[in-house]
Parts: sequence; structure tokens; C-alpha cells
Amino acid sequence: MKLKLGTFILAAALTPFCAQAVTLKIACGGGIDDLCKQSAAEWAKKTGNVVEVVPTPSDSSALLALYQQILGSGSDKIDVFEIDVVWPGTLANHLVDLRPYSKGAEAQHFPSLIANNTVAGKLVAMPWFTDAGLLYYRKDLLDKYKLKPPTTWDDLAASAKKIQDAERGAGNEKMWGYVWQGRAYEGLSCNALEWVASYNGGTLVDASGKVTIDNPAATKALEMAAGWVGTITPQAVLNYGEEEARGVFQSGNAVYMRNWPYAWSLLQKSDSPVRDKVGVIPLPQGGANGRHAGTLGGWELAVSRYSKNQKLAADLVTYLTSAEVQKMRAIQGSYNPTIPTLYKDNDVVKANPFMAALYTTFTTAVSRPSTVTSTKYNQVSSQFWNASHDVLSGDQKAGDALSDLQSSLGALQSGGSWK
Ligand code: GLC
Repeated sequence: MKLKLGTFILAAALTPFCAQAVTLKIACGGGIDDLCKQSAAEWAKKTGNVVEVVPTPSDSSALLALYQQILGSGSDKIDVFEIDVVWPGTLANHLVDLRPYSKGAEAQHFPSLIANNTVAGKLVAMPWFTDAGLLYYRKDLLDKYKLKPPTTWDDLAASAKKIQDAERGAGNEKMWGYVWQGRAYEGLSCNALEWVASYNGGTLVDASGKVTIDNPAATKALEMAAGWVGTITPQAVLNYGEEEARGVFQSGNAVYMRNWPYAWSLLQKSDSPVRDKVGVIPLPQGGANGRHAGTLGGWELAVSRYSKNQKLAADLVTYLTSAEVQKMRAIQGSYNPTIPTLYKDNDVVKANPFMAALYTTFTTAVSRPSTVTSTKYNQVSSQFWNASHDVLSGDQKAGDALSDLQSSLGALQSGGSWK
């Protein structure tokens, strides 16, 4: 009897505490970001809740399809979603307005990202990290051949060929000049936009919604990239995402690589064959009158409208996007903060000298036309990456592919509008 009473009291004493512990599920990390798990666990410990990290694919196009399936069915199985900077318009209807929960935290982020994440007056996601396409180069190889880092694509192609040939001649059969992302997915749209914008060929659809892709500068840009395949770039690039390109570059088999900032911390790991041999600069400009164009990328955190614990989920988002967590992620994972003051933080700059040196590359990065095309962005982009892939594989001439693309994008608009 005594024992029974004791057991009852213990259970009663624990009940209020147990009743409050909630399990939240977050989709983040894309298979390569362990820091998400680490910070989520910190929040769980601080608040007495549990967070489960749901594994996700690293290919953003595959990830969008998965999210659309989950959210489209109104499922509550994920509370917090890591979403691409180009998805707020597409996913807005499934996401909650974070402003009532954020306590004004949005004021510390880049205003352009807050504007990007605001759809019909709702702040549907908080910025987590920002991205811009960058050029990574082998400092040691450029020094060895007495070459300067390239400013134009022509410089890049000439030096890539020279070093590739010389290194192969010296016994490294596997050496390539330039690796990037050429698979038919969102990453190729980012690369192709950079080529086009670098020749002042626009952004596919302009801010007013007009389709602009069929123009001579864009044609020239795609012809240029097609010319790299099989000469300075392996044919296999047509199936490369970010990680495949990094694999080749990090193992020492490429002179140049186009990638996002996350690659820096991995290239600098103690066991990396290219540690301390890499420089980072803006992507080359298209000829003397062109511009350095890096596509704006990045990821945001959003709370599902179907979550049963929206307030708590918003609290987790506020924590993960805070200056404290962004600083840790910048130092350990070279994820660019979305809070401008962190670009002046000594520890952040020490770990990532390129973040301070290329600050304007990040603040002037070229946006994909996701705000203006909104829910149709993924269709616009998939047509662009498919057209680009056809040109790169030699299946279609650049001029023909872009004139077809111009018509099919026009047909996607209803009565000249994207709404
Ligand atoms: C990076 C960018 C993202 C982009 C993706 C394409 O993750 O941050 O915006 O869509 O690459 O592969």
C-alpha cells in the first residue's frame, strides 16, 4: 500500500513536466549539414522539448517535390521546413506568418531577404543563411604557372586549358580545368543564370514579368558554356550537382570550381588535399563590358500551417536563425549569415576571409525571377534548366533552344501575367 502511494505521488509529480514536453520535427540539413541537428538539440535541451531531424535529399529540386507532397496533403508530420530562397511564393499558402511570434527579430536581417520572404503581407520564413555563386581556384597551381586569377570567362578558359594540359603532361591524367553544376536541376538554372547575367543578358524574366531570355547575349553565354564541355570540363558535369563538383575539386583534380560558400569549410578540413591551396573570388564577367554575376541562393526556415505546435515551432525557428546560431554556423560550416553585423565579427571573418572580402558579391547577387513568377517559378526554372542542359549536351543549338524557351515561357503566363 505504502509503495503504491509512493509510486502514485512520483507519477503525479512528473506528470505536469512530461505533459509539456513536445516533439517537433524539422526537415533540414540536406544530408550534409550536421550543424542543424546540433543547434536543434541545443534548443531542445534549453526548452525541455524534443526535436527530431528528418533526413532530406541534398538536390533542391527533389526536396521541393517532397515538400509539395507532404504539404499538399495537409500533413502535420513536419513542423519546421528548411526552404530555398526561391520558394516563399510557391509554398506560402502552407506556411504560417512568423511576425506574431518573432518579437521583431526580422529587423536584424538583410531587408531584401525579409522582403523576399514576405508574401501578401505574411512573413512566411526567417532567413537562415544566404548564398551566392563563387569561383574557387587553386592558388598553388596558378602560382606554379605564373597566372593571375581570371576576371573574364575567356581568361578562365585559357588558363584552365593551359594548366590542365601541363598537369596532364606531368602525369596527372585526371586533371580538369573547370567543374560546376550541369545536371538538369535547380543548380543548373543558377549556373546558367550567372553566365547569361554576366553578359548582361538579363534574368530570364524581368522584374515586370516580361520574358527576356531570347537575346544575343544569352545565346552567346550558353554557347560559351557548351564549348567547355569535353574541353576544360568533363562530360560527366552534365550529371554533377554541388557535391560532385566539390568531390573532383577537393581531391585535387580541378583548377577551378563554381560553388556556394558551404564548400569553403569542407575544402579547409584538416584532411582535405587542397587545404590552404584555395582562393575564392567573384565569378568571371562576360567580356570587358560584362559583369561579375553570382546567383543569389540561400535557405530559410518556415513553420507549417498544419503543425499542431506552431508557437513552439516558431520559437525553434527564432532560435536557429538568431545571431548566436548564425555565428556558430558561419565559423564551423561557412554558412553566410543573413545578419549584416556578423560580417564584421572577427571570428567569422577569421574563419572565412572571403565573407568580408566579397561582401558586395553577396549583397549584389543576382536574384532568380521567383518573386515575379511566384507559384510558377519551378516550372519556369525547370524549362530553363532543361533548355540549358540540351545546349550543353549538344542536342540543340543555343539560339534555337532560347527561342523555343521564350515561347514556352510565354505560354505559361496567363494573359501576359504570372498571377
Ligand atoms: C544552393 C542555394 C539554393 C539553390 C541550390 C541549387 O543550395 O542556396 O538557393 O537553389 O543551391 O542547387
